[in-house]
Amino acid sequence: MERIDLLLTGIGSLVTPVGNAPRSGHAMNEIRRIPEAAIAIRDGLIVFVGPEAEVLSGLKGAQIAETLDARGCLATPGLIDPHTHLVHGGSREHELPLKRAGMPYLEILAQGGGILSTVQATRAASEEALYEKAYRSLDIMLLQGVTTVEAKSGYGLSLEDELKQLRVAKRLGETHPLDVVSTFMGAHAVPAEYKGRSGEYADLVCGMLPVVAEAGLAEFCDVFCEQDVFTVAQSRRILLEGLRCGLLPKIHADEIESLGGAELAGELGAISAEHLLAASDQGLRMLASTGVIPVLLPGTSFNLGLNRHARARDMIDAFHLPVALATDYNPGSCPSESMQLVIMLASLNLKMTPEEILTACTINAANAIGRGAGIGSIEVGKRADVALFDAPNLAYLPYHFGINHTFGVIKNGQAAVW
Ligand code: NIG
Ligand code: FE
Repeated sequence: MERIDLLLTGIGSLVTPVGNAPRSGHAMNEIRRIPEAAIAIRDGLIVFVGPEAEVLSGLKGAQIAETLDARGCLATPGLIDPHTHLVHGGSREHELPLKRAGMPYLEILAQGGGILSTVQATRAASEEALYEKAYRSLDIMLLQGVTTVEAKSGYGLSLEDELKQLRVAKRLGETHPLDVVSTFMGAHAVPAEYKGRSGEYADLVCGMLPVVAEAGLAEFCDVFCEQDVFTVAQSRRILLEGLRCGLLPKIHADEIESLGGAELAGELGAISAEHLLAASDQGLRMLASTGVIPVLLPGTSFNLGLNRHARARDMIDAFHLPVALATDYNPGSCPSESMQLVIMLASLNLKMTPEEILTACTINAANAIGRGAGIGSIEVGKRADVALFDAPNLAYLPYHFGINHTFGVIKNGQAAVW
């Protein structure tokens, strides 16, 4: 007799992108909607999904271990946050007066604050303290409906301290219900002891890469390619060395200045390019031609008080790119774990439709971290990661803002929030 571990009934409306591949341009609007749906789960995977009546008749005679009633909620694939700086020590609320007085982000960094202040706090923190702090952030993310998160290192900036952050991320993935995907970002800033010697520090980062790869502590390599941080040439050198070691390139590109980071992402065929507020048309064309996923971070432009935003409409309408969304959760430019805030800001400031936003937070986000085959849509054979929102329809998520819509979260086929 067929066995079902969990049957989810009473879903008011199920909305999901279809397929494993990223959805580009106008195809981001094409989602599947199933009213009054049910999902059957076995061994952490989806085995049936469809209209409830169909699923129930297909399960006649099956042995169902547990049934949960979603009470008319909206079901989406578990949200995926493909860009965070999850593991770090301390916080930076002491910089608020500087920010409010108008001091730019890069100026605070140049004075030894910003990222460098978090580097000090992270170096000083024990592995256990970093773990506990990040574990609480993962709890917050789960309560937001997030089921997979990417986590970057980059607040250690020495081999030992980077490894410490990466070990914490690994342990979090093993012990917390959320899945954690690791990125090595030793090139997040030039540490104080290398001030004015960014080239030498880039060499040091290149030397860290084989050690990180050998230890199996990261899948991706990221670089902050920005004015007064890492040049395009240094970024290229680091990302190529990462590739040689088996780490796929990601890049913080054209966040503040138009340096040519998007062009570099296109040239290297990076898996993703992030931020992109100042990306040129040529850069966006190159992303499209080599299949790079633009990961947009509207929480960051919002929190930095910028009145410009990534050109999501151009990316989707003119360049037919597969836009993804993420929080960029970090203690400086975006101290918020809230994907639901990102959903609202993507509507308000990026002018994305609710369907595009859903695609961006699920299948496109999954592809930005190399997980499109396993997660990012509610389909037979995929991992049973489902978010349930107390919302009558998809457009209600960006519309009714500043509250948490989550009713329940199924992670790996288990009710992680109910
Ligand atoms: O993506 N831009 C560089 N890195 C982060 C900010 C990190 C920080 O301020 O601590 C970002 O915005
Ligand atoms: Fe970032």
